[in-house]
Amino acid sequence: MTLRAVVRGVGHHLPARVVENAEFEATLDTSDEWIRSRSGIERRHFATEDDTTSSMATVAAQAALADAGLQPDDIDAIVLATSTADLTFPSAATMVQDKLGMTGGFAFDVQAVCAGFVYALSNANALIVSGQAKRVMVIGAETFSKIMDWTDRSTCVLFGDGAGALVLEAREGDGTAADRGILATDLNSDGRHRDLLYVDGGVSTGTSGYLRMQGNQVFRHAVEKLAATAETAMERAGVTADDVDWIVPHQANIRIIQGTAKKMGIAMDRVVVTVQDHGNTSAASIPLALSVGRASGQIKDGDLIVTEAIGGGLAWGAVVLRW
Ligand code: UT7
Repeated sequence: MTLRAVVRGVGHHLPARVVENAEFEATLDTSDEWIRSRSGIERRHFATEDDTTSSMATVAAQAALADAGLQPDDIDAIVLATSTADLTFPSAATMVQDKLGMTGGFAFDVQAVCAGFVYALSNANALIVSGQAKRVMVIGAETFSKIMDWTDRSTCVLFGDGAGALVLEAREGDGTAADRGILATDLNSDGRHRDLLYVDGGVSTGTSGYLRMQGNQVFRHAVEKLAATAETAMERAGVTADDVDWIVPHQANIRIIQGTAKKMGIAMDRVVVTVQDHGNTSAASIPLALSVGRASGQIKDGDLIVTEAIGGGLAWGAVVLRW
């Protein structure tokens, strides 16, 4: 018998304010056509004054609990992937714990920027297979609108806000690729590339700062590293491209998504794509896409899913799981 971290519920939350590409034309030298053709993004949701990372994460977590048929105190741990926690500390995860009304367990944030959700899934999986937790709420939540330089057309048109959550539960499997749950993970980082994507503020500057990105350099790394990490995780899981039902990629750019799928030999009709509606929501993009993919009927029980993501650090990774 092998302990597996199996998905029991999923949910998401998007803030109410929707901004179409054309709205940027009033203040920036940009166009709907440029944003659409270079990134695939058509619109994104932005937090209103009342929305924070922890508030959106809480609504997503409540939706995942409802989907799982569980109460907050059924959860042993919250692992929240974010680079935009409400405050420097405490963690957004402990704020969610409080907002959910959880009186036990433990909660912490994981910070790996756009790769945050695959890092969080991998950590949650480790908690479960090592017996430290039976049920883990894994959340990706971001308010990147709060770290945008609204005069920088090369970044501010690309990002959005939102949250998604999964409830993972310990179940016994046979130890084969036919098991439900997380089958394999692969994590990587290379700090030599830290200047390609960073925020120019923090404790050392006394400001919260703005996101800075050399987009075309990140792009260059993305397709190659994403296909490689996905293939490593698939090999560890003992599955091939033919076995994969859905790639659920980080949603940064449709051209990266297409390039990675092509390199992996998987057709686009087996890729869940939400970038057109959400933009790049960093650590929230994969759980948002999983939740949307589940709600739309694309992802079914037993489907084999590969998630992959890359972002600031650079940090990247992949998770193979059977729903
Ligand atoms: O999620 C974390 C990881 N992040 C990513 O994966 C993002 C990766 N990068 C990308 O998605 C793409 O590189 C971008 C969408 C950011 C940019 O696309 P690109 O095809 O790599 O364009 P570029 O950066 O090479 O810029 C091409 C031109 C430049 O003008 P010049 O120098 O050729 O005259 C930019 O100044 O497009 C210009 N440009 C814009 N034009 C209109 C940059 N932003 C805009 C804009 N509107 N918003």
